[in-house]
Amino acid sequence: MTRGVTREENHLHYVHWDAKERGDWWQAIEGCEILLNLTGKSIHCVYNETNREVLLRSRIDAVKALQEYVLTTTHPPRLFIQASAVGRYGNTYEPCTEGAPVGKGFLAELCKRWEETFFHHDLPATRQVVLRIGLVLGKSGGALEPLKKLTKYHLGGTVGSGKQVMSWIHSDDLQQILLYVIENDQCTGAYNACAPMPVTNKVFMKRLRTVMHKTFALPAPAFLVKIGAPLVLRTDSSIALEGTYSLPTRLLKSGFAFTYKELKTALEDLV
Ligand SMILES: NC(=O)c1ccc[n+]([C@@H]2O[C@H](COP(=O)([O-])OP(=O)(O)OC[C@H]3O[C@@H](n4cnc5c(N)ncnc54)[C@H](OP(=O)(O)O)[C@@H]3O)[C@@H](O)[C@H]2O)c1
Repeated sequence: MTRGVTREENHLHYVHWDAKERGDWWQAIEGCEILLNLTGKSIHCVYNETNREVLLRSRIDAVKALQEYVLTTTHPPRLFIQASAVGRYGNTYEPCTEGAPVGKGFLAELCKRWEETFFHHDLPATRQVVLRIGLVLGKSGGALEPLKKLTKYHLGGTVGSGKQVMSWIHSDDLQQILLYVIENDQCTGAYNACAPMPVTNKVFMKRLRTVMHKTFALPAPAFLVKIGAPLVLRTDSSIALEGTYSLPTRLLKSGFAFTYKELKTALEDLV
């Protein structure tokens, strides 16, 4: 579903919705087996009051609209998968498993309220799964694109202290996790969807430079990021200067096998 127009594109059928309220989209998804909700304004923006409100509302309203559908339809889906983020744990340097407390800061609060809304209703016929997704690394778009650009122009040095932890995941593994959750009926509740070997920003940038054959790079001191991120990149500096150390404990315990455990192999595949 999209806020754009209903259309066929690249063999996909897009259905218009406002991501808030009941509409014609109900008929389009009537009888579906699985709901996967990834809706939400991108967190890559400045966290002023207006943007905070849109970041929150775009997520909460979409969850509520889909819940209303599930609670009302005569053919509820057997599975409802909801996106969340490892940012729920806040800026952490100690490993966080799924039982770790909610962290401090805007993104942690955002994830908390997102998940609380999702679990607010008991959906008797529908299995509910939350994926707390890490930094998704893919072949196009996403977080890797700007980092590759910076590295290409010798600007891919350590950011800030470099100690902030990056809990990344290869997009192929994220897709495998989705399939795993779909196929395994015992999967329920919240799962950290990130690789089992997170790294610090210092190590991340070093690995990226190595696979891109760049020996020299200028670091980005914290004060420069604080000035430059909102002005030049129109994004919040905390995205670059803070990080979350999270581990996919529940997935590993349940037997999920990651293809890309180490950042080096993931980057060699993607770059
Ligand atoms: N990418 C990551 O590294 C990452 C990491 C952790 C968690 N996540 C979460 O996973 C989900 C998907 O991530 P993504 O990177 O694929 O997201 P994305 O492409 O930025 O956004 C997902 C979709 O949300 C819709 N959307 C955007 N702004 C909206 C608004 N104001 N109101 C209602 N809908 C809006 C857009 O659909 P239309 O424009 O077609 O309506 C967009 O395609 C997000 O909820 C994100 O927070 C992503």
